[in-house]
Amino acid sequence: MKGVILAGGLGKRLYPLTKITNKHLLPIYNKPMIYYPIETLIDAGIKDILIVTGGNHAGEFLRLLGNGKQFGLKHINYTYQEGEGGIAQALGLARHFADNDKITVILGDNIIEKSIKKAVADFKKQPKGAKILIKKVPDPERFGVVEFDEKMRISGITEKPKHAKSDYSVTGIYMYDKDVFDIIDTLKPSKRGELEITDVNNAYLRSKTLTYNMLEGWWTDSGTFESLLRANTLAAKKDKRRAQK
Ligand code: G1P
Repeated sequence: MKGVILAGGLGKRLYPLTKITNKHLLPIYNKPMIYYPIETLIDAGIKDILIVTGGNHAGEFLRLLGNGKQFGLKHINYTYQEGEGGIAQALGLARHFADNDKITVILGDNIIEKSIKKAVADFKKQPKGAKILIKKVPDPERFGVVEFDEKMRISGITEKPKHAKSDYSVTGIYMYDKDVFDIIDTLKPSKRGELEITDVNNAYLRSKTLTYNMLEGWWTDSGTFESLLRANTLAAKKDKRRAQK
């Protein structure tokens, strides 16, 4: 399994913090944000990693991460997204890197408490399709929201609905087989002018090959002032707990 970290965009919701740097290089407690998704992948045994970045400060990733020696890696792959075409468009740039393998995708601003090892192992056994990780949250309207049928099977996913039909949001951690790139090729831009990852997941749902795992432990994005603050607090607590052990 290969790993893809999506770390592009202009981080407009965090302006002026992102005026002179990329969102994913901002600090979360004692580390740059991008360290967290890298560590999440490595912890799950994924060492072949592509970082998709963009915007005006892409060169800084190379300066910060180099070949990933600080993570015990020998090499990191990088690619560049022009403009702001959305998460699914950024993922489309990983086709060459994925080279028909399964991939685990993580949004560069998603910070988690625990491990995704189990979900990755489950997806390795899944013959085809996709897996999403979902989480109960108090503010589902901010995210992609999952609807269930009476057997707790996913029956639909809506991107940032006005009225959420459940409390379960789609986290920014996704697993896909090679078909994801053909699906991305069929997508049309949404109202916000982006290729939506929710449309990718709904395509897998229609072909009845979408599975999910419940994410264990806390989860937060960090793309708004509120969530950035929360991410810092949670990461600090986790680090202190680890230091006490
Ligand atoms: C994106 C996805 C959304 C998902 C969220 C997780 O939202 O579009 O479905 O729930 O990431 O962080 P965005 O951060 O682009 O608003």
